[in-house]
Amino acid sequence: MKFEDMINKIILGDCMDYLKEIPDKSIDLVLTDPPYGINADKGIGGNNLGKVRKYDDNWDMKTPDKKIFDELLRVGKKVIIFGGNYFTDKLPVNGHWLVWDKIGEINQNGVNFSSCELIYTNIPKNNVKKYFIRQIGFINDGDDRFHPTQKPYRLISEIIKDYSEENDLILDAFSGSGTVCCVAKDLKRKFIGFEINEKFYKKSIDRLNGINSNGQYTIFAYENGDNK
Ligand SMILES: C[S@@+](CC[C@H](N)C(=O)[O-])C[C@H]1O[C@@H](n2cnc3c(N)ncnc32)[C@H](O)[C@@H]1O
Repeated sequence: MKFEDMINKIILGDCMDYLKEIPDKSIDLVLTDPPYGINADKGIGGNNLGKVRKYDDNWDMKTPDKKIFDELLRVGKKVIIFGGNYFTDKLPVNGHWLVWDKIGEINQNGVNFSSCELIYTNIPKNNVKKYFIRQIGFINDGDDRFHPTQKPYRLISEIIKDYSEENDLILDAFSGSGTVCCVAKDLKRKFIGFEINEKFYKKSIDRLNGINSNGQYTIFAYENGDNK
């Protein structure tokens, strides 16, 4: 597929097959959330809730190859990667990180859910910026969730507003439930998403078209993420 044909689409497939078609520095912002290799597909902390909730498993067994991170850094002007602490052996050292504070602690069946998440950037600054958005396990401020590691709409919205402009092109190589692409569309940015899992891909296309996880059209779309 040609690069121009990827724009404003979520594409079913392995991101590596498509990244090589994308010219150097042609993406204004790469904002992505790769598998952390911590078995989140089996439920956070490997607590098996994933199986109970009937997620497709085995996509979080290992982190992506370094060549995928090299590709993200090649195509992106700005690159922001969730879970940066899991990929420090595959990314260049940099001084500007983001922290997502999930506002709260939870211990469920002896599993401690993370109270914060570290987000890598390649942005040439030396400081750390914090975002406060509630999400502990499945407790959150209103998102309609179907993916085990679905990021809050409001968090992605704040990051996109801080690091891009209207009409910029945003790439999410591991799009999952499509949060980055949906927010990009709502904020008048262009987007490209890749998702390897057909079930997540199909649901993310519904979400992009305004159909919620109960199969109903979302009538009201609130900026704070309700009904997304
Ligand atoms: C951590 S999740 C992303 C969740 C997303 N941020 C959201 O809000 O829903 C990572 C996703 O990457 C997908 N994935 C794993 N390897 C991939 C690959 N090589 N190419 C494309 N997608 C991949 C998995 O199926 C999974 O849905």
